[in-house]
Amino acid sequence: MITGRPLFTTEQIHDKVTELAGAISRDYEGKEILAIGIMKGALVFFADIIRALKLPVTVDLIIASSYYKTASSGKISIHYEPLEPIKGKNVLLIDDIIDTGVSLNHLRDRILSQKPESLKICVLLDKRERRITDVPVDYTGFHIPNEYVVGYGLDYENRYRNLPYIAVFKKET
Ligand code: IMP
Ligand code: MG
Repeated sequence: MITGRPLFTTEQIHDKVTELAGAISRDYEGKEILAIGIMKGALVFFADIIRALKLPVTVDLIIASSYYKTASSGKISIHYEPLEPIKGKNVLLIDDIIDTGVSLNHLRDRILSQKPESLKICVLLDKRERRITDVPVDYTGFHIPNEYVVGYGLDYENRYRNLPYIAVFKKET
């Protein structure tokens, strides 16, 4: 069950996506990027931000899972990896949220081993308090407190991804 009002409304998210895409477009001016969305959490954010980029963009995905209910398992399973060659590309990894940092750290190392020209990371949400691994994040939408959130691609047991806003999740008692 979702409780309380949205943490971020559809409009606030839209404004933030526009702002992030503007900064990315300026930083990469004159270059092409390979945008890689980390599924399934980044599904909605990825679809919105790539459409707001004013750059030539190629697109690929990573499908990975690390979460078990609301506690990070610290283990990563990779179910799909990019088909696009990484070598020599300006790669932008796009994720919904950075929490402990374990998943992004792992995925970052995997991409770096394939020798991209450059690698940057963009996340919509950052739960900094929970970080256990240091990961360089280049673009951050919102910093949030240590609460479990759903909506706009983020799930609880694969539900609520389709909410058009982000809300704090509380289990029904
Ligand atoms: P990390 O490895 O702990 O940084 O977290 C990896 C993944 O866990 C994120 O990319 C999300 O998909 C998921 N996750 C972390 N916190 C939340 C949350 O509050 N709601 C939904 N998913 C989350
Ligand atoms: Mg994720």
